[in-house]
Amino acid sequence: MTNYTKDLETTIAKLAAKGKGILAADESNATITKRFEALNIQSTADTRRAYRELLVTTPGISEYVAGVILFEETLNQTASTGEAFPELLKKHGILPGIKVDKGLVALPNTTDEQFTQGLDGLSERLAEYKTKGACFAKWRAVYNIGAGTPSALTIRANAEGLASYAALCQAHGIVPIVEPEILIDGDHTIERCFDVTENVLHAVFHSLFKHKVKLEYIILKPSMVINGKKCAAKATAEQVGKATVTILRRTVPAAVPTINFLSGGQSPEEATANLNAMNLLPGNPWNLSFSYARALQDYCMKTWKGDAKNAAAAQKIFFERAKLNSLASVGKYTTALEKENSLVA
Ligand code: 13P
Repeated sequence: MTNYTKDLETTIAKLAAKGKGILAADESNATITKRFEALNIQSTADTRRAYRELLVTTPGISEYVAGVILFEETLNQTASTGEAFPELLKKHGILPGIKVDKGLVALPNTTDEQFTQGLDGLSERLAEYKTKGACFAKWRAVYNIGAGTPSALTIRANAEGLASYAALCQAHGIVPIVEPEILIDGDHTIERCFDVTENVLHAVFHSLFKHKVKLEYIILKPSMVINGKKCAAKATAEQVGKATVTILRRTVPAAVPTINFLSGGQSPEEATANLNAMNLLPGNPWNLSFSYARALQDYCMKTWKGDAKNAAAAQKIFFERAKLNSLASVGKYTTALEKENSLVA
């Protein structure tokens, strides 16, 4: 098999660059349609292409965004300039990535828990994505906190899935984003999320070790340690930052170069403030940055409204949000910057 170490080194060095993060623009058609329809935007292949083109061609965005995760539809689309999307991204100084999992299925013998599918044929798909320009990939596993969940079975099955995927990616010279998402839905406390996250990450890194995944060439994309959305006791940014970093220190080897969080349904401001709080804590061995979808895109999509006339204003909003998160990734964000940013809707 070809030795792709050089490719992996080059890609991870760019994605882990200080002050930069990743934009997740890889919503499945069903998910982006839901987001568009909530704003009365029609969801067609064309509107999805126009919206994603708007995001990646935002002037100056490569200062804050090193890579963009694409959905397969976008990877295969041609931008209005006639270029294929991966080409367009590269021209704008951004690395193209691709979501490669095939979504969630019910995991038998659990209480409504889910398993991520997509391993069959993955090796062939990775080879194809690489020829199309993808340098990195994403696979998302989900865990919900409830009575008796996540179960040991779900934690183990998903850890194995993530590790099998990650090993295959590296064999193809593609940097894997390993995404175990503990959902924010529910009324659980931050303490419960703390325990669950420790178990999940411990299992994930055990499986990565068993599959001989080179930790130097992965990106961990976890959820933050935070209270459930319906929990009355709302944790402060300081509490979220401290709890998250404590769990990461217990479970994530220092060999992992960068940890890029998902936003998971937090408001844009919360996601930024919580990331900043982590970066105020001294002595972290890894880069701590973002790989948000909603927290980066919400205000931008609301400003765009599906109308080309609003594209420039939407790009400005996106740029500002990315800049605030870049500042948070180096501990230099303050809420006062939100107020100064009159562009934020
Ligand atoms: P959110 O930031 O909206 O949680 O999305 C990140 C992501 O890529 C989910 O897989």
